Amino acid sequence: MPYALVTGANRGLGRETVRQLALKGFTVVLTSRSESGRAVAASFRRENLAVDFHQLDVADGQSIAELKEYLTERYDHLDVLVNNAGIHYDTFQNTLTADFAIVEEAIQVNTLGPWRLSKALLPLLRKSDNGRIVNVSSSSGSFADSWPGTPAYSLSKAALNMLTKKMAADLEETNVKVNAVCPGWVRTDMGGPEAPRSVAEGAASILWAALLPQDGPTGGFFRDGEVANW
Ligand SMILES: NC(=O)c1ccc[n+]([C@@H]2O[C@H](COP(=O)([O-])OP(=O)(O)OC[C@H]3O[C@@H](n4cnc5c(N)ncnc54)[C@H](OP(=O)(O)O)[C@@H]3O)[C@@H](O)[C@H]2O)c1
Repeated sequence: MPYALVTGANRGLGRETVRQLALKGFTVVLTSRSESGRAVAASFRRENLAVDFHQLDVADGQSIAELKEYLTERYDHLDVLVNNAGIHYDTFQNTLTADFAIVEEAIQVNTLGPWRLSKALLPLLRKSDNGRIVNVSSSSGSFADSWPGTPAYSLSKAALNMLTKKMAADLEETNVKVNAVCPGWVRTDMGGPEAPRSVAEGAASILWAALLPQDGPTGGFFRDGEVANW
């Protein structure tokens, strides 16, 4: 039985990623920092999808420890970890006007959250024949492709890309692959209504990295299964 876990999955891309993984036959642990994810998981179960729920605030070490304990008791391994939770697309500021409370929270959630959670769940991922960590990043964290503004968000995603490379190298001799993906500009609360992509299209980019075969890449940055610029 393949098992997956998605963070920030009560809405947006995370919620759709849970749906697509469950449709592929995964039992998915839907996590969210608020209890709202519990009802979302229940609605998936009514569609006969195998979706469990556990609370997780990725910026809270105690919350990560409680999730780890729950998973270790209930599941003997984990195949896919999707680090999707993200915050503060800060178009309203630049480096000169930045509110450091926003900058610090962006780094806590977008960079240190995936790092802490991946580290905590590695014992379970190592027990999989096909462990996959997918870090949901963004072109705004790309040195080649970023744009003016969004300083906290871009910095946190650039650091997430570096984390991806470093962790992939540290896991090179194992069955665990680590990749970063950009879902494109997607119609969610973060992306806004003008974005050209649906959540289904954005989540497909995430699924590609979650379902990589054993000879697939690790330590890369991808969009729609194609190499993206760092
Ligand atoms: N939409 C785009 O165009 C786009 C483009 C590139 C990359 N991305 C990335 O895609 C991912 C998903 O974004 P989205 O568009 O689906 O955004 P969204 O609709 O704003 O959803 C963000 C999710 O992250 C959760 N979250 C925030 N802080 C958290 C924390 N401390 N612990 C756990 N969950 C937390 C939110 O939970 P609450 O409901 O509790 O706030 C929510 O579930 C993010 O990493 C984002 O940076 C999005």
